[in-house]
Amino acid sequence: MAALAATAKHMVPCTCRGFDIDRIREDFPILGAKVRGKPLVYLDNAATTQKPQSVIDAVSRYYAAQNANVHRGVHQLSQNATFAFDEARRKIGAFINATVECEVIFTRGATESINLVAQSYGRTFLHAGDEIIISNMEHHSNIVPWQILCQQTGAVLRVIPIDDDGNLIMEEFDRLLNEKTKMVAVVHVSNALGTVNPIREISEKAHSVGARVLVDGAQSTPHMPINVQELGCDFFACSGHKMYGPTGIGVLYGRAEALDQMPPYQSGGDMILSVTLEKTVYGRLPSKFEAGTPHIEGVIGLGAAVDYLNAAGMDAVQQHEHELLAYGTEVLQRVPGLRIMGNAREKAGVLAFTMDNAHPHDIGQILDDEGIAVRAGHHCAQPVMQRYGVPATTRASLGLYNTKEELDALGAALQKVNEVFS
Ligand code: ALA
Repeated sequence: MAALAATAKHMVPCTCRGFDIDRIREDFPILGAKVRGKPLVYLDNAATTQKPQSVIDAVSRYYAAQNANVHRGVHQLSQNATFAFDEARRKIGAFINATVECEVIFTRGATESINLVAQSYGRTFLHAGDEIIISNMEHHSNIVPWQILCQQTGAVLRVIPIDDDGNLIMEEFDRLLNEKTKMVAVVHVSNALGTVNPIREISEKAHSVGARVLVDGAQSTPHMPINVQELGCDFFACSGHKMYGPTGIGVLYGRAEALDQMPPYQSGGDMILSVTLEKTVYGRLPSKFEAGTPHIEGVIGLGAAVDYLNAAGMDAVQQHEHELLAYGTEVLQRVPGLRIMGNAREKAGVLAFTMDNAHPHDIGQILDDEGIAVRAGHHCAQPVMQRYGVPATTRASLGLYNTKEELDALGAALQKVNEVFS
């Protein structure tokens, strides 16, 4: 019961006086850590986010007090686990404003969600000569599944280009769209540039030619209110570990009418209504897409993460990160020889950059010596690097617990990089 008492203390971040950053930071035990003798400055949130105590407690409480398989047992423990599991689906459906909770399918993450749509919807409804539109700023997980689908079906991949600031060139999207377009798959927020794309406009245009729309929401869901009905998309993919929840759990939202038409992606237990040796009748949504014992503690932990984000308030989270982004941009602009990559009109908390004298990996190493965690590399978005003619960037990515002081520390460490390499 000690764990339960600790949970209650941490469940609700105080928002009574606005966004209480000190209180929020206290909720994340790892933020008190030291790295190389310096206080940890965690600026790698696009790779994965840290977990609040309430999420850690929800996972450990599941194993300490609730562990049983779900949807299978008549015994009390199984019923408790099933209730907690189903409750998490309800919370997540409400968090993204799904119309009904069966539109929330649990997957391993955004990557699996996109693969599910490519293989289940794509192989059923796309044929040789059909066209799929993606953009030049996609993560590999929203490129490769479509390339594979094209190889399997003979469909053709088209790409919306991006301008020098990292905006989608919407006139080119208009030009690419035609009656052969069957799928438009675009990222909501670019992990490499921070660009926020105009999803509603894309959905309306895509639907006007009868195409489906899939949105990769891995980098938007933790940073802004998400309303899939307002976005107008048919599918929306996100990852638990990027939204302060556990790894290995994610969500595919799909319109029920689309999911109903799709065959299962994987098969096995829990996704059937009946099985004989001759024939299987598949289960209804969402079980049709959730074969096998699910990632129960991941789902419950993700439900706790959603509780946490709701208590913080997604409008407040967005506003806080917006201020940090503006502040961090100014800090970086003061560093000689540094160029920010990605200056789109609408941007979320990604600060990617190159420096004249230093390779991104060397920059990452020097920042690590200062206790600052960033990502250096191509960020699983090599076509973005190719577009800007760089092999890699250094990327600081923001989360709800970051502070202006941490961005000052980043700026000071980057001045050191210049000293080392000048
Ligand atoms: N997609 C994650 C990132 O951008 C891993 O770092």
